[in-house]
Amino acid sequence: MAASSMVIVGTVFQLVFTLMMSSCTANNVRFYDVTGYGAVSNGKDDNSKQFLRAWGDACQWNGNSVMLIPKGIYKLNPVDFNGPCKGSTAVRIDGNLKASTDISAEAWISFNYVDWLLVDGSGTVDGQGASVWGKSGQPHSIVSSLVFNFVKNSKISNLNLINSKSVHLKLFKSEKVMISGVKIRAPENSPNTDGICIADSLDIQVQNSNIACGDDCISMLSGNENVEISGVACGPGHGISIGSLGQSLGDSNGLTGLHVRNCSFTGTQNGLRIKTWAPSSSGLVSNLIYEDIHMESADNPIIIDQHYCPSRQCDNQAQSSIQIKNVTFRNVQGDSSTPVAVNIQCSSKVPCSEFKLQDINLSYSGREGVVKSECLNVDGQAYGQQHPPGCF
Ligand SMILES: *[C@@H]1O[C@H](CO)[C@@H](O)[C@H](O)[C@H]1NC(C)=O
Ligand SMILES: *[C@@H]1O[C@H](CO)[C@@H](O)[C@H](O)[C@H]1NC(C)=O
Ligand SMILES: *[C@@H]1O[C@H](CO)[C@@H](O)[C@H](O)[C@H]1NC(C)=O
Repeated sequence: MAASSMVIVGTVFQLVFTLMMSSCTANNVRFYDVTGYGAVSNGKDDNSKQFLRAWGDACQWNGNSVMLIPKGIYKLNPVDFNGPCKGSTAVRIDGNLKASTDISAEAWISFNYVDWLLVDGSGTVDGQGASVWGKSGQPHSIVSSLVFNFVKNSKISNLNLINSKSVHLKLFKSEKVMISGVKIRAPENSPNTDGICIADSLDIQVQNSNIACGDDCISMLSGNENVEISGVACGPGHGISIGSLGQSLGDSNGLTGLHVRNCSFTGTQNGLRIKTWAPSSSGLVSNLIYEDIHMESADNPIIIDQHYCPSRQCDNQAQSSIQIKNVTFRNVQGDSSTPVAVNIQCSSKVPCSEFKLQDINLSYSGREGVVKSECLNVDGQAYGQQHPPGCF
């Protein structure tokens, strides 16, 4: 989809949700306040049964329903809010939700098979991750905080997500979802605490959000189509990343259509990154545009690594079978904390093609050495300013 039609999709979303929210004053709206179901905000007692009953009633109302979580601290064990629902459902979180230390579930709070969902509010979704971070002798936690599976025509806005045990906000097999104005905070050294992870999803927008965490600010996995990211401030964190793709041989992997615009990176490990395994399954990553990007002390502002193999038994001659094609970097400014500001290492088996670098101005903030770019197996063209000098 062209950029202009993405803008139209965005406008339609805004309109629908403005209508949805303004209709909250209309007669067909029903409110389901969790405290009316016996939820207690003492920060100690689990409220999962009360929340699930409120959700069940809200979801069954054949009109606009609002499940309300007022101010207060609510302890909450893992809950699955399942659809389909009869009408449109809003969940307004003004309170502070606190996870338990339970790590048996894959998701702390999940929404499944819901259409026309709005999750909004000024509250905080606190994953209590410190209870599992860095625990030796224990596998990494996989409990993501807020998970949306098979969710459509929906919006997630204005929430604060802090200290997840793993990913803060995850979309899987979802369609036409907008994430807007969220704030995500976890310590720089907290393991695997990605901000937002998007997989197998279509027509997704992330806008005006502020993400600081211990892993990727935004990670995109296989199967995505038309993802638009704008106005995101990332850092600390590992950047906006695609991958790692292709680890399990045999699967087909890839994604198409990504537009990252007007984003900034401050003190991040990476800026814009694509990572595929070597060897890998086959696949295609195509039609990506990164533009109007500001870097402040990113370690690797632009990095494509098609030889990713973190474990020891790797064949260093192995190549990835995922092709990366039609990628534009336009107006990328700022500085790099390492000399190699542009690092594009592609597969010799399926070289990168149709790459464009336009108006790149990245300096090296370290004391000694000059800024440079390094390329391997890439075919492309450079336009406008090239600092560091281009390598293809
Ligand atoms: C760029 O993003 C910032 C938020 O980081 C926002 O305030 C600003 O309006 C955006 N500018 C444009 C031109 O979209
Ligand atoms: C390259 O990707 C851009 C952005 O998605 C798209 O508009 C353009 O048509 C693609 N070019 C080709 C040759 O596929
Ligand atoms: C490139 O960036 C430096 C600072 O990082 C700035 O002084 C210079 O004006 C920029 N050049 C252009 C052509 O924008």
